[in-house]
Amino acid sequence: MTPSQKPTSSEERLNKFLARAGVASRRGAEELISAGRVRINGNLVTEMGIKVIPGEDVVEVDGTPVRLKEERLYVILNKPAGYVSTLKDPQGRRTVAELMPATDHRLFNVGRLDMDTTGILLLTDDGELAHRLMHPRYHMSKEYMATVSGRPTEETLAHVRAGVELDDGLTRPAEATADRLGDTTSLVRLVIREGKKRQVRRMLAAVGHRVLALHRVRFGPIELGELPLGETRVLTDAEVDALLANAGFEKRGT
Ligand code: URA
Repeated sequence: MTPSQKPTSSEERLNKFLARAGVASRRGAEELISAGRVRINGNLVTEMGIKVIPGEDVVEVDGTPVRLKEERLYVILNKPAGYVSTLKDPQGRRTVAELMPATDHRLFNVGRLDMDTTGILLLTDDGELAHRLMHPRYHMSKEYMATVSGRPTEETLAHVRAGVELDDGLTRPAEATADRLGDTTSLVRLVIREGKKRQVRRMLAAVGHRVLALHRVRFGPIELGELPLGETRVLTDAEVDALLANAGFEKRGT
């Protein structure tokens, strides 16, 4: 079925869609179409009046997907302890779904935090972005504050930075610095670029420090900031652009 045959009322002319996405003026968009630079769902189009369904049809200009940002919702949650990072839990535990804002968007979480971990969790209905952000190729960095037992030495932190041998392999180079050193507990700042299960807890346990509390303060370019525990906020346009850039998308569609 070609895009223009789909039975829907939300269709839009291709040149109007491209203009709305900020790619070119309507006239300029017509030129792009007639120059054979536009594809819909992988098919080259040169026909002027063709229609697309924004958010459903994949429109590309010179091979770059064109996106309308405002059709997607990007939210961060400061997840409290005691909630699982899924929308439904077969075991009936509390889920982050209970903390999501009232919206028509079908939000889902990008990645997970352990039940007992607090901090930043991204929620969106942008499946394409979520998929890329989770892909190891993009090495999304995540920053954690870990309250640990004991007082880690500089040598221990250097070991964590270089890579720790876990059951499922050696961890990639990380950043690890002591934020506060105490006799019984200390605070360690850790930045990792991968997402093995319970990774931070296992890395620190492997070098002799039990994690007593774990809080994620940054997810890629997005800082948690002062958002209160249990609350959500919508990302700014600049934050969404930064996320898209992190995932290798062009900044288009303002
Ligand atoms: N590492 C952990 O150990 N737990 C988390 O929730 C996230 C990273």
